[in-house]
Amino acid sequence: MKTNETTGRPLIDRFGRHVEYLRISVTDRCDFRCTYCMSENMSFLPKSQILSLEEIETIALAFISRGVKKLRLTGGEPLVRRGIMKLVERLGNQLGAGLEELTLTTNGSQLRRHAQALFQHGVRRINVSLDTRDTAKFAAITRWGKLSQVLDGIDAALEAGLHVKINMVALRGENDHEIVPMMEWAHQKGMDLTLIETMPMGLVDIERADQYLPLTEVQEKLSQQFTLTQDPHATGGPARYLRIAETGGRLGLITPLTHNFCEGCNRVRMTATGDLYLCLGQDDKVSLRDPLREGGIDALNSLFDHAMDIKPKGHDFEIDRQKPQRNVKRHMSVTGG
Ligand code: GTP
Ligand code: 5AD
Ligand code: SF4
Repeated sequence: MKTNETTGRPLIDRFGRHVEYLRISVTDRCDFRCTYCMSENMSFLPKSQILSLEEIETIALAFISRGVKKLRLTGGEPLVRRGIMKLVERLGNQLGAGLEELTLTTNGSQLRRHAQALFQHGVRRINVSLDTRDTAKFAAITRWGKLSQVLDGIDAALEAGLHVKINMVALRGENDHEIVPMMEWAHQKGMDLTLIETMPMGLVDIERADQYLPLTEVQEKLSQQFTLTQDPHATGGPARYLRIAETGGRLGLITPLTHNFCEGCNRVRMTATGDLYLCLGQDDKVSLRDPLREGGIDALNSLFDHAMDIKPKGHDFEIDRQKPQRNVKRHMSVTGG
């Protein structure tokens, strides 16, 4: 890569936080329509606006040269993007050369097809979103998803040697009674389970306040049934972990609403159109696509510096029936979390 005077300088924001984790949404499209994530008739971006796989690679390499150590591919659903495994292979070649981890967050529907190749290209750990193991409920939450296909995808991932973490958005009245069985199932299969508080992103067809379940409440209930201890496990992501003595497994908690973790934020996220969002819960962004197309990779370094200057202190998500909803307009599928 061509160098200029900023190449190699770490990415540090105004609050002294080091950015070492880049999440890349490779497509805004998805083969599911989860009720808390999308409306049923979403419109998606035209192809001309989407970065090519080569452009994504160029940007990722530029980030690695500025100290990014962890890359996560997201979507929409990353595995529905045509040619995606080529990108995984190319990025996988960077492992050990600055990059320490290449991973992805997926809905699991395409894992049977791709699990082995993911492992071959250096992926060791993936996160699979699964909110329920009840067939009818799964169909209701994802609208278009088929549970058996996802469970088979998870098995394929485990068979391929991938470590799997299950992500479960905690939804009051929908899957709260499944938290314990889901945890026991995951731990028995050697997987971690992470619970996530629903975040107010984009307009959806359901009332978020009805679904919002604070994880403080879940932890309190679990502690009556299980022996929970803090676990120092850290992935560089926002979860904090508990060890469950009875199952021997780990439970992650992602609590943007009840326990803010922004002071330790180490990440930025890029959309499929090359917009670099500096916080999941804010609109601050830097557009990388057109400068890259017009000025080549030399344009990127000064944009990265600018990004560090405007990275916000944190989100101000809130879900409170009594107050007007503080919502981020874009859907979760734009950035993939
Ligand atoms: P690990 O590497 O396994 O720790 O993954 P991760 O938690 O970083 O990634 P994953 O894609 O599994 O995300 C899990 C949840 O965390 C998703 O709902 C994301 O939206 C959420 N999340 C990730 N980063 C942030 C963040 O900076 N702020 C907030 N509020 N949520 C985040
Ligand atoms: N709040 C919290 N998590 C969400 N996800 C999608 N939409 C939301 C939301 N509104 C989760 C998915 C996936 C991860 C990337 O984000 O289930 O696990
Ligand atoms: Fe697709 Fe994931 Fe959104 Fe569900 S949560 S619609 S699987 S992007």
